[in-house]
Amino acid sequence: EGIKIYDPAYTNTAVARSAISYIDGDKGVLLYRGYPIEELAEKSSFLEVSFLLLYGELPTKPELDHWNSMIMHHTFIHENLRDFMQSFRYDSHPMGMLVSSFAAMSTFHPEANPALSGADIYNDIRLRNKQIHRIMGKVPTIAANAYRHRMGRPFNHPVNHLTYTENFLYMMDRLSESNYRPNPQLARALDILFILHADHEMNCSTAAMRHIASSQVDPYTAMSGAAAALYGPLHGGANEAVLRMLEQIGTVQNVPAFIESVKQKKGKLFGFGHRVYKNYDPRAKIIQRIAYEVIEICGGNEPLIEVAVALEKAALSDSYFIDRKLYPNVDFYSGLIYRSMGFPTDMFPVLFAIPRVAGWLAHWNEDIEKGERRIWRPLQVYVGEKERAYVPLQQRQ
Ligand code: CMC
Repeated sequence: EGIKIYDPAYTNTAVARSAISYIDGDKGVLLYRGYPIEELAEKSSFLEVSFLLLYGELPTKPELDHWNSMIMHHTFIHENLRDFMQSFRYDSHPMGMLVSSFAAMSTFHPEANPALSGADIYNDIRLRNKQIHRIMGKVPTIAANAYRHRMGRPFNHPVNHLTYTENFLYMMDRLSESNYRPNPQLARALDILFILHADHEMNCSTAAMRHIASSQVDPYTAMSGAAAALYGPLHGGANEAVLRMLEQIGTVQNVPAFIESVKQKKGKLFGFGHRVYKNYDPRAKIIQRIAYEVIEICGGNEPLIEVAVALEKAALSDSYFIDRKLYPNVDFYSGLIYRSMGFPTDMFPVLFAIPRVAGWLAHWNEDIEKGERRIWRPLQVYVGEKERAYVPLQQRQ
C-alpha cells in the first residue's frame, strides 16, 4: 500500500494550517485568534467576534460600524426564497429547512458561482466580502422563517435598526414592530451563546465546509453541506438530543439507572465527550452559569436542570466516564437555556448553526487566501474483490 496511512475518522490527520481558533484539549482552553473564549464571552459581541474570526483582528469602531451596517443591510431574503420556505410540510424539522434553504440561496446569487458568472471570487475580495455580508445577514432571517413556518405563523420582515441578536428574536416572535425590544438580559445571553458557538477549529461541519468548497462550488452550496453535517446528533444535533434525553429520564431518581444503561452501551450520554477536549469544555462552564441566570429570569421553573446537574455529578464521579475522560461539552446545558427562552426543541441545532456560519465563512475565506487551493480528495484502503469476470443474469445463483 505504499505510504498510505489508514486514519478512519481522521483522528490523526491535520488537513489544513489555520490561524482562526486554537484548542488545548487537555487543559480545556479555547482561543479565537488568540483571545480566550471566556474574555470574549464577557466583553465582546457576536458581530465583533465574527469580524475577529473572519479578518484576524478585533475591529476598530469604524470597522465595526461598517461591518454591522453591511450585514444588517442584507437581512431581507428574496420573495421567492420566502415562498420556497412556505412550501415545506408544516411539521418539517427546522434544520431540514435550513439546509435546503442554504442550498437554494445559491440559485438566487449566481454571482458567487464562478462557473456561471465568470466572476473571480478567488481574487476579488470585494465580491467575496459581499457574499460574507449577505450570508451573515440572511441566515437569521432564514432561521426565524423556519421557526415561524414550523409554528404555522406568518413570516416577519427583519428590522435593521435592532442589533443582530435582537432582530433575530424579533423575527421569531413578534407580529408588530412598534417599540419592540426583547428582554436585554435574554438578548445578551443569546448573544453570548452565539459567541461560544461561532467557531471550533476543524470540527465536522467546518471540515465539510472546507472539503466541499475545495471543489470550487459557491459558498452557499458548501454552507448547505456544512449545515447538513451539523444536523447530526453527534455534532450540532446533540443539544436537541440532550433535551430529549433529559425528558426521557424525567426525574433525578431515574439518573442512576440511566447512567447504568449508558455504561452497558445501550445509549450515549448526549452532551458528554469530545474528540479534542479531554477536560471540561470551557464553553460548557460559561453555559452552565448562563443557564441558571436565564432560568431565573424566565420564572425559575425548569425541573430538568436538576436532572442535568444530577446526571453531570453522577457521570463525573463514575469510572466509566473518568477513564474515558468524558466531560460535559457545549451542548449539555445549552438546550435548557433555549427551552427556558421558549424555543421548541427542534430549533436548538438551528441556534447552533446561526453563529457557526461565521466560523464556516472564516475557514472558507482562509482556505481561499492561505490554503493550498487544491481539491480535497482523501485516499481509501480498498478491501473488496479482486478483478473478476461479469456473470450473466441466467447463470447467477
Ligand atoms: N456517552 C457514552 N460513552 C461515550 C460518550 C458518550 N457521550 N462519548 C464517548 N463515549 C465512549 C465511547 O463509547 C468510547 O468507549 P469505548 O472506548 O469503550 O469504545 C470512548 O468513550 C471514546 O469515544 P469515541 O466515540 O471514540 O470518541 P470520538 O472522539 O469518536 O467521539 C463524540 C466524540 C463527541 C462524537 C462522542 O463523545 C459522542 O458521541 N458524544 C455524544 C454526542 C455529543 O454530545 N456531541 C457533541 C459534541 S461537542 C459539540 C459539537 O461538536 O457539536
